[in-house]
Amino acid sequence: MEKLEVVGGKKLSGVLKISGSKNASLPILAASLLSKKKIKLINLPQVKDIKTMLTLLESLGSRVKKVGKKTIIDNINQKKTEANYNIVRLMRGSFLVLGPLLAKFGKAKVSSPGGCSIGVRPIDIHLNALTKLGVNIKIVDGYVIAKAPQGLKGAKIRFPKISVGATENLIIAASLAKGTTILENCAIEPEIKDLTNFLFKIGCNIKWISKRSIRIVGVSEINEATYSVMFDRIEAGTYLIAAAVTEGNLKIKNVNPNILRSEIKILRKIGSKVRIKKNEIHIIGNKNIRSVNIKTAPWPGLATDLQAQIMVLLCRGNKKSTIQENIFENRFMHVSELNRMGAKISIVGNRALIKGNTKFAPAQLMATDLRASVSLILAALSAKGKSVINRIYHLDRGYENIEKKLKKVGAQIRRLN
Ligand code: UD1
Repeated sequence: MEKLEVVGGKKLSGVLKISGSKNASLPILAASLLSKKKIKLINLPQVKDIKTMLTLLESLGSRVKKVGKKTIIDNINQKKTEANYNIVRLMRGSFLVLGPLLAKFGKAKVSSPGGCSIGVRPIDIHLNALTKLGVNIKIVDGYVIAKAPQGLKGAKIRFPKISVGATENLIIAASLAKGTTILENCAIEPEIKDLTNFLFKIGCNIKWISKRSIRIVGVSEINEATYSVMFDRIEAGTYLIAAAVTEGNLKIKNVNPNILRSEIKILRKIGSKVRIKKNEIHIIGNKNIRSVNIKTAPWPGLATDLQAQIMVLLCRGNKKSTIQENIFENRFMHVSELNRMGAKISIVGNRALIKGNTKFAPAQLMATDLRASVSLILAALSAKGKSVINRIYHLDRGYENIEKKLKKVGAQIRRLN
């Protein structure tokens, strides 16, 4: 089992380039299944979740080729409609192939993704919305078996709750449905806007008609196209927090600062100096971190995927802070490990009460989920001395070259086998 050794206490300083977005690439790769031709994608991050999605596409009959910076998805012979448990269980994002397979073939069998460490993570919103497009759904032996022998039919659907994945699955499915679909109460995360920009580019008839509503008129054919995926805002946010937590000085490049405005607002509130240029954010961390009370929310609110990282920062705050987690019911897995490093955090319902004034002490740590893993690295970077983080495979699911990037800006970090 691979581990990371971090010798903390060093201020990070220098320039970091942010990779392509994992959470934008996954639905775009799934949507490439709509095509019967070739789709060329640029800026896919080199992380395990993307490899898993490419393996899934290959298992469905797509041919995947890398030519220079481009990943080419060739769907000329893509005919299979069954997404196997052995791949889907590795990553919940795999469930996004349900929409495009149904739209293209009128049938699909996709393993149910199940729960995961951050919560139950049901799929009821995806399935109920698909039935409104004329899909018959049965669950047999852990598989979702979905059929629409007459093809999908456009409908007006209001999501009962904001869901990123359900919005993506439905937007993709409706793109080849007969007639017009209106989706209301959509998630509007930047990754969803990236997906709709991609769909527009491959010839879908798609238009945002109000803040959370989209109109999709089904088309019968998809064009070939080349598309460059947006930057990873969670990776960018993580490195901004790394600078703040180590009192460092980092320039984060290849970003759109406007997309990180909630996070920048918090960083400024806690006392970091943040300067913004067109595609760059420059942050200078300060010694005295001010405490704040924050809550996660769907976009444009604070991303739940940055909650664990911000918690590390608030442990160093000068007073008490609170974080309210409004998206997932069990997303405080990092708390017990942070407490082992000297933090004083207690959980009451969906709120973490953080005492502040923590000087992190190095420790042997166990990573749980993707963002929890990276929060432990941030705490270890702040702790003077050697920490070892075990079970880091989650980290490789979502962070491209994390040790290399952190080393480049002065962190002492290495991978142990
Ligand atoms: C996506 C992101 C994940 C991020 C999350 C919230 C990807 C690959 N993953 O996950 O990194 O943390 O958005 O921003 O992009 N829910 C239901 N029924 C459903 C679907 C969701 O009750 O059918 C609930 C979930 O349990 C959760 C909430 O809705 O409490 C939001 O989940 P959702 O937005 O769907 O998250 P994901 O798309 O799984």
